[in-house]
Amino acid sequence: MPATVLTPNLLTQTMTSSQPTIPSRGPRRLLVTGGAGFIASNFVHHWIERYPGDRVVVLDALTYAGNRSSLAAVEHHPNFRFVHGNICDRPLVDSLLEEEMIDTVAHFAAESHVDRSILGPAAFVQTNVVGTFTLLEAFRQQWEKRGKPMSDRFLHVSTDEVYGSLGPDDPAFTETTPYAPNSPYSASKAGSDHLARAYFHTYHMPTVITNCSNNYGPFHFPEKLIPLMCINILLGKPLPVYGDGQNVRDWLFVRDHCSALEVVLHKAPPGETYNIGGNNEVKNIDLVHQLCDLMDELAPDLPVRPSRQLITFVKDRPGHDRRYAINATKIRTELGWTPSETLETGLRKTVEWYLTHRHWWQPLLSSEYQAYYQQVYATTP
Ligand code: NAD
Ligand code: DAU
Repeated sequence: MPATVLTPNLLTQTMTSSQPTIPSRGPRRLLVTGGAGFIASNFVHHWIERYPGDRVVVLDALTYAGNRSSLAAVEHHPNFRFVHGNICDRPLVDSLLEEEMIDTVAHFAAESHVDRSILGPAAFVQTNVVGTFTLLEAFRQQWEKRGKPMSDRFLHVSTDEVYGSLGPDDPAFTETTPYAPNSPYSASKAGSDHLARAYFHTYHMPTVITNCSNNYGPFHFPEKLIPLMCINILLGKPLPVYGDGQNVRDWLFVRDHCSALEVVLHKAPPGETYNIGGNNEVKNIDLVHQLCDLMDELAPDLPVRPSRQLITFVKDRPGHDRRYAINATKIRTELGWTPSETLETGLRKTVEWYLTHRHWWQPLLSSEYQAYYQQVYATTP
């Protein structure tokens, strides 16, 4: 089935996945939590383009990281519904699951930024642990009422950060690497992973867990490294590189993450866990150099050029994990998934997107956002 292009914008022209459509077992009814956030909004676009007959209900609390405009292209799709609400609100979750006859939960909602978890961990425990527990319990109740269909899915979207930090020569994380979370963020995600695992083990509820590396691409809130650097280059502002800039991350284009989640939803047996990664390990400073060079090439009116002049080394993040790397052999060999984008092609698409979507990111640079930045730099030791 060819992908449906919903709006003639850069996103749908250039971001449409080239993965083949997987035959579905009939229309699904999805609850996508955190659907106004970065990855889940891309997932909603991906899913509706590929499965326009499926019901897609988004539940999102619209925290600072949630942005309704990221869903503008699907707002009027007949099978789409947006619900403003919190995953910790059990009566709301119960009624949504029941009235929408949800058979598939794609659970993305989370507090997701490590720096914010250092400043204020409580919200991370509440949303990531209590919120996930609330969803699991509510889904279990409905799933049991409906006769425990094993074709249902509760997809718990998690992170490679639960595995901790690697040394320079350590092998990449596999699905059996012991958990060793180091930040309040990763500890709260680890707790939620354990709950999702336990619901399969104890109740045989069909949960699947994915642990993905760093994503980048359209609709990424400008507190994370790549969008922050893109926007600061466009504004001629300093590019803050933490510590010595030698920390390593494994980058995956967000639409590749979405296609991985699609194959997991369609093909993964209940109870399984899959690592997802782009096989793109890069030191932060090298990535920032790449972004500067791309901006110099693609942006006509930069206030400061060459933009590498803007790089500023700042105090390190407390407890900063040195290196993440994903071994994605399992999802490749068992489910046949591989990423479509290289770091070069994905970064180019991303830079082009930030260049042409100023109307999306400009309103996010609010006074609250500026105050947050003052706090980050004031509290780093
Ligand atoms: P994000 O911060 O961009 O978006 C989170 C969304 O969740 C927002 O729309 C927010 O409004 C919503 N939300 C927060 N608390 C909520 C609550 N209590 N109830 C309902 N909605 C709530 O996050 P992201 O970067 O897109 O990450 C999505 C998921 O993927 C997270 O679970 C994260 O741990 C995981 N993940 C992220 C990355 C990455 O590189 N960003 C990598 C691997 C895994
Ligand atoms: O690995 C997956 C994780 O990737 C996800 O689970 C998280 O939700 C997501 O936020 C991301 O976590 P990181 O902490 O790796 O991403 P961040 O973009 O915050 O930082 C990437 C690297 O860049 C990290 O080593 C810190 C560094 N950094 C970050 C910022 C914001 C800087 O040097 N300067 C910065 O201003």
